[in-house]
Amino acid sequence: MYRTHTCGELRIENINHTVTLAGWVQRTRKLGGMTFVDLRDRYGITQLAFDGAVNAELSEKAQKLGREFVIQVQGKVAERSSKNAKIPTGDIEIIVGELTILNISETPPFTIEDETDGGDELRMKYRYLDLRRNVVRKNLELRNRLAFELRNYLIQRDFIETETPVLIKSTPEGARDFVVPSRMNPGEFYALPQSPQTFKQLLMVSGFDRYFQIVKCFRDEDLRADRQPEFTQIDCEMSFVEQEDVLTVFEGLVKDVFKNIKNVEFNEDFLRMPYTEAMEFYGSDKPDIRFGMRFTDITKEAQTKDFVVFNQSEYIGAICAEGCAGYSRKELDNLTDFVKRPQIGAKGMVYVKYEADGSLKSSVDKFYSQEDLMVWAEKTNAKPGDLILILSGEKAHTLRALCELRLEMGNRLGLRDKTVFAPLWVVDFPLLEWDEENQRYSAMHHPFTSPKKEDVELMKTNPGAVRANAYDMVINGVELGGGSIRIHDKDLQAQMFECLGFTKEQAEYQFGFLMNAFKYGAPPHGGIAFGLDRFVSLLAGLDSIRDCIAFPKNNSGRDVMIDAPSFIDDKQLKELNLQVKIEKV
Ligand code: AMO
Repeated sequence: MYRTHTCGELRIENINHTVTLAGWVQRTRKLGGMTFVDLRDRYGITQLAFDGAVNAELSEKAQKLGREFVIQVQGKVAERSSKNAKIPTGDIEIIVGELTILNISETPPFTIEDETDGGDELRMKYRYLDLRRNVVRKNLELRNRLAFELRNYLIQRDFIETETPVLIKSTPEGARDFVVPSRMNPGEFYALPQSPQTFKQLLMVSGFDRYFQIVKCFRDEDLRADRQPEFTQIDCEMSFVEQEDVLTVFEGLVKDVFKNIKNVEFNEDFLRMPYTEAMEFYGSDKPDIRFGMRFTDITKEAQTKDFVVFNQSEYIGAICAEGCAGYSRKELDNLTDFVKRPQIGAKGMVYVKYEADGSLKSSVDKFYSQEDLMVWAEKTNAKPGDLILILSGEKAHTLRALCELRLEMGNRLGLRDKTVFAPLWVVDFPLLEWDEENQRYSAMHHPFTSPKKEDVELMKTNPGAVRANAYDMVINGVELGGGSIRIHDKDLQAQMFECLGFTKEQAEYQFGFLMNAFKYGAPPHGGIAFGLDRFVSLLAGLDSIRDCIAFPKNNSGRDVMIDAPSFIDDKQLKELNLQVKIEKV
């Protein structure tokens, strides 16, 4: 037996027990005739003590131990003279009688401590060492706990975990596919699933009734803090349900997880916000409602004078930042620079300071009187001491920019507390969105999402106005999950494909299998998928989902540890009937 206990286990009750421990050397230090070694494993750290006066040879051996050596010790548990209240084993130490070096280690490229000196790239290259650090390991432990809670909740409610294939035909979820060449079918490719969408629908046709899967999905899209090219979904589907049934089951799941893992109880039903409201008042379909600062449309009120910028704007929107009237010139310039960044793209920002004495000072007071400005102040519910920030221009663009400004103000004012959780459902998404580049409609969610019954007629006359039975679960400005009630009628599905500009042949080529299946008694069904990585990072308060993935990719989609993607040799290419030609970019 390599060990009798872990390095996080021994307490004062174990004094005088003879124990064997194994683990990694965190550090060694010499104090007079004593040598101390911190021994670490997944469970914690235990101090080992070597007394030179008792066993000089052993003590010398201990002094030579390098960082990250793997050792095994046998000894007696003793009470420590100087206790360490910071660690659970801090009351005891092991008076070592035997020391075996199980493996030596080179000096690691960064220190394996919570506060490490290793930069991002270095830690990713040596991710297996990074994973030895508490902070990273804890995120993976939380991930494991979350997966357990989710499985528990779903299995208790008769959901069956079913695996679906990874080498498939493209599923349209709006991103590019990763493709895999087929050796046995020259010139043909599999696609890796962007989600198991069509398979879970087929399982409903098979009568599975309640399905779930914790499953890897693959999307070749531009990466951000909350996006990885391969990520994990908790993918779910149910038969004989309407939207309300799905929302109830999965609101229950989110509440259950928060209660069990964070001891956070949501006693109220989650807010339901129609998509149009989310866009109009937060400029986003994933509003962060931990704080107010909703947008106020002051287009009418602000187009009353000779200020050309406003008069030429489709939309003028304002937010009211409470207690910020004291912002300096520099702070305001800094905010203006923020909204003018290319990613945000506002042309400028107008402000109105509602001073404590009741007067209004504005960057546009050349054009507007105190009375004019007071109208804006009233409409935005501003009080003395508040600051009104205004953006204008083309509506959709301005709403997006105002959303960024609102979030930035939320950050600056400390209103986005990671220990506060504000969940909501965003509902009534449009079924279709206009794709300017290709001059046609595309599915806002995916092509299997059903239109609201009362809007079906509009599919022929005004497709853009059709609302879908689609919903997103949003917490703290993060889209945690999304789903819909599906079309289960083959004629309606055909009509949807038509709206999306598919010819009959194209629809048949891509989705013939699904439409065929729908001929054999498809039950009404619907579902949802949550992002597991996003869920963990939300619970752990992380800034990037990378920190809760054991072996993540960097922002260019590379795994710098294994150095992938990489070139393959000519023999492999030949077998696959492929030739590579790299176009210069
Ligand atoms: P959707 O595309 O909204 O829906 O994805 C569901 C959830 O998956 C997570 N997610 C991601 N997480 C990390 N990196 C990514 N690149 C990434 N892309 C998506 C998000 C998102 O809410 N088949 C449908 C679900 C359904 O209709 O049932 C689907 O995949 O948290």
